[in-house]
Amino acid sequence: MEERLPAELLELVRKAGEVAASQGQRLYLVGGAVRDLLLGQPSLDLDLVVEGHAPELARHLARAWGGEVLAHPHFGTAKFRRGELSIDLVTARSETYSRPGALPNVKPGSIDDDLLRRDFTINAMAIHLDPASYGELVDPYHGRGDLDQRLIRILHPKSFVDDATRILRALRYEQRLDFQLEATTAELLRQDTPMLDSITGDRIRHELELILREAYPEKALVQAQELGVLARIHPSLRGDSWLAERFGEARELTPGTPPEPSLYLCLLIHRLSKEGNELLIRRLRMAKATARTMRDTLTLKSELPALAEPCLPPSSIYRLLERYSPAALLANALASDSPLVRQRLHLFLDELRYVKLSLNGEDLKRLGAPPGPRLGRMLQALHEAKLDGEAKTRQEEEELVGRWLRLVEDDS
Ligand code: CTP
Repeated sequence: MEERLPAELLELVRKAGEVAASQGQRLYLVGGAVRDLLLGQPSLDLDLVVEGHAPELARHLARAWGGEVLAHPHFGTAKFRRGELSIDLVTARSETYSRPGALPNVKPGSIDDDLLRRDFTINAMAIHLDPASYGELVDPYHGRGDLDQRLIRILHPKSFVDDATRILRALRYEQRLDFQLEATTAELLRQDTPMLDSITGDRIRHELELILREAYPEKALVQAQELGVLARIHPSLRGDSWLAERFGEARELTPGTPPEPSLYLCLLIHRLSKEGNELLIRRLRMAKATARTMRDTLTLKSELPALAEPCLPPSSIYRLLERYSPAALLANALASDSPLVRQRLHLFLDELRYVKLSLNGEDLKRLGAPPGPRLGRMLQALHEAKLDGEAKTRQEEEELVGRWLRLVEDDS
């Protein structure tokens, strides 16, 4: 902790341990932060568990040290914030499941109870923050040994049945850390994939989003296909070499900045039928905007032949593509086999969509255009002329409008 945590955060954590002890409560650092510290990776996202009452401890901490508290007494949780620093405090609890996939029944418990309810041994360790035992590791399930052996291991055989989100979490950690599923864990995971049907779409979606935020999401998706997990979420989803290559190309487009998860999602659903896509949208209860981007991806895919026509002027490319969301456009650019289609999608994304007129409706009226629907059409025609390179500057736009107005006058 001394080496890996920033000094200010370390001070806050130490202070929290002292305040807890003065209240007769015992405080621990738990979960992902302990795992990452033991792996030698920095961790700023600290979860603390208290044998006592988290909201009460947070308020004592604020009184002793200053800072803000956001408490959820009903859940026994609190967020403590002081300047830039923040920590999450949770009351130690035990959990039981009334039926597979249900949310757990929760009651206050000891640190051992709290660790027992967790997903994998490597996430089920704690570090004492109590001044008397500060820094000691609590490791009832031999998580440290599994870290050394690079294994993802569940704590008990009913783990995936209790909470099938762990199936997706196992794949995420396995790929992120470059670990392996321990043999029995792998066997139970395969056997329990049907339990994915027992959890809500919201929970599956959340885990899928977390996978898509990883540095190399395709690794978990390929493994999810191998183990039959992806097919359980949707029979036509595929995590294969095609997907892995497209994800890699997506990263190459913006070196140093990871692609938006929505782009990965559009690539993942690109080979679904429109009906299949609707099924997935419903099953995972996708947000409206996400559903729109997913639908856009497939509608655009079906309209790509029009974009492959020879001799399309930029204005026609613009008209074909203007209604689609950027992620859908980019996914289709990455997925298309046609160099011409790819090139036109990139032309739209990189240039055409930013082409704006210098003149507006007021300017056109000032130049003599009569108000009314014709003015709107003239603005649109001017925009198309600009896209096609016929009017580059404000002056050229004005000249073009002047010419059109003279033509109208001559006609009448
Ligand atoms: N946890 C769990 N089962 C879940 C979700 C969470 O046991 N279904 C536990 C794990 O001990 C985990 C901790 O809660 O370490 C915190 O959850 P989360 O923030 O999702 O995990 P982190 O380990 O912090 O993961 P990450 O590094 O991805 O943030």
